[in-house]
Amino acid sequence: MILNIKRDASVESFEVSGSTLLDLLDNIKHTKDPSLAYSSGCRSGVCGSCAMVVDGVEVLACSFKPSGGELVEPLRNSPIIRDLVVDMSKALEFNAKAKAYLNEPNAIKIDPASVINELQSSCILCASCYSVCPVYAINGEFLGPFALTRVWKYVSDKRESDPKSKIDNIQQNGIWDCTLCNACTLVCPQGISSKADIEKLRAKSSQYGYMDPNFSSFGFGGGFDGGTFF
Ligand code: SF4
Ligand code: SF4
Ligand code: FES
Repeated sequence: MILNIKRDASVESFEVSGSTLLDLLDNIKHTKDPSLAYSSGCRSGVCGSCAMVVDGVEVLACSFKPSGGELVEPLRNSPIIRDLVVDMSKALEFNAKAKAYLNEPNAIKIDPASVINELQSSCILCASCYSVCPVYAINGEFLGPFALTRVWKYVSDKRESDPKSKIDNIQQNGIWDCTLCNACTLVCPQGISSKADIEKLRAKSSQYGYMDPNFSSFGFGGGFDGGTFF
């Protein structure tokens, strides 16, 4: 089959065979062009290092099976290092910036069966959601999908002793900037809905007196003095 690969400003076409996209890239590298650059690791959808864009959609190369004629491009919204390799470090730094971790934990015993937000822990940091996010594309300071989804995990964790500090931290360049377009959910290989988690963070923010600044700028109010909204 033919595979078209974006390399710098040009597109190169290769005749190759294989099952997954990663097989095809390996085939090209081993038999046609050893200079082709791409990232991979586990080959089983676990490490998140092989995310790329095929015909405009983010996929994991190790699980996507091309049928021929596809255009393969690097992830969007991150600097390209070479060919299909991008520098994800800025997107990954947002986990720390968003304080997506547990503060000093409450000394309480948790029944393992009651830990309800384990899905967010299955994020493999592939950065596909940052690649597809239209807000991150125009605002490089937007905390973005996977960092915000992790904030929800810890805000909703009963062991978190100071959830308000986490809510305070995501008001600027955070939950209110998201357009709720759901694109991040559609491309996530782990079935995580950052959009749904951002909506929950908005509801939680309302309980702490915050409101959508787009409404407050129209004169619909200016906070609730720390009280409970509903
Ligand atoms: S729902 Fe929000 S975070 Fe997800 S892609 Fe759309 S704008 Fe970005
Ligand atoms: S939330 Fe999903 S798409 Fe985003 S980095 Fe994690 S696994 Fe990848
Ligand atoms: S190589 Fe690890 S997710 Fe594809």
